[in-house]
Amino acid sequence: MTKNKGLFITVEGVEGVGKSTNIETIKNFLAEKDVECVLTREPGGTLIAEEIREILLKPREEKLTELSELLLVFAARAQHLATVIKPALVSGKWVICDRFTDATYAYQGGGRGLNKSVITGLEDMVQNELRPDLTVILDLDPETGMKRAAKRGSLDRFEQEHLEFFNKVRAVYLEIARSEPKRCVIVDASSPIETVQVSLRAIIQSKLAEYFD
Ligand SMILES: Nc1ncnc2c1ncn2[C@@H]1O[C@H](COP(=O)(O)OP(=O)(O)O)[C@@H](O)[C@H]1O
Ligand SMILES: [Mg+2]
Repeated sequence: MTKNKGLFITVEGVEGVGKSTNIETIKNFLAEKDVECVLTREPGGTLIAEEIREILLKPREEKLTELSELLLVFAARAQHLATVIKPALVSGKWVICDRFTDATYAYQGGGRGLNKSVITGLEDMVQNELRPDLTVILDLDPETGMKRAAKRGSLDRFEQEHLEFFNKVRAVYLEIARSEPKRCVIVDASSPIETVQVSLRAIIQSKLAEYFD
C-alpha cells in the first residue's frame, strides 16, 4: 500500500448478491471517516466504457462471441482505468468499484469457459501492475441471487443465463478468494442486510487502520 495513493476496493459477486446495496454502505462509512472516495462500476464508469457496457448487456439476436465479449470487457477497462480509476487513486481518493477483473475470470473464464491464461495476458497488458488492494466477494447461492435480481425488472444478457452458468461463476470467485486470502474477503451475503453491513464496516475499519497507521 503506497502512502498518499488512494485504496482500490472492488466488490464482486453474482447478480443480486447485494453489490450496489453494500457499496453505498462502504461509501457512507468512508464519508463518516472523512475519506474521499469515488464510486464506479464495470463494465462502464466513463461515457465510452458505458457505451461498451450497453453492447455487453443488451440481449440481441446476433450472438456476441466469447472472444468479442472478453475483448470488449478489457477495452472498457482500459478506458476506465485511464480516465477514472488511476487519476482518482493518484490524487489520493479511494476508489470503490462494482466488479473488476475477478468478474472477468468468473464470467468469461468460469461462465464462458475461456482460457485463464488468455485473461491473465490481457490483465497484465491492460493493468500492468495495478491490482485491487481489497476485494470483497459477496457470496450467495446463485438461485437466491437471481430471485433478488429478478425483482429489478427485465433481465440483461448475463442475467438471462442459466443457473449452471452462475454456479461456475460463483465457484471461480471462491477459488480466487482461496488463492488470494490477503486481498480477498468473503462475506456471506445470505445474511440479513444489517448483518452484512456490520461485517463490511469491520473489514473497511481494518483497512483504514492499516492505511493510516
Ligand atoms: N443481504 C440481503 N438480504 C436480502 N436482500 C438483499 C440483501 N442485500 C441486498 N438485497 C436486495 O437484493 C436486491 C439486489 O441487490 P443489489 O444490491 O442490487 O445486488 P447487485 O448489485 O449485487 O446485483 C435489492 O432489492 C436489495 O435490496
Ligand atoms: Mg448492482
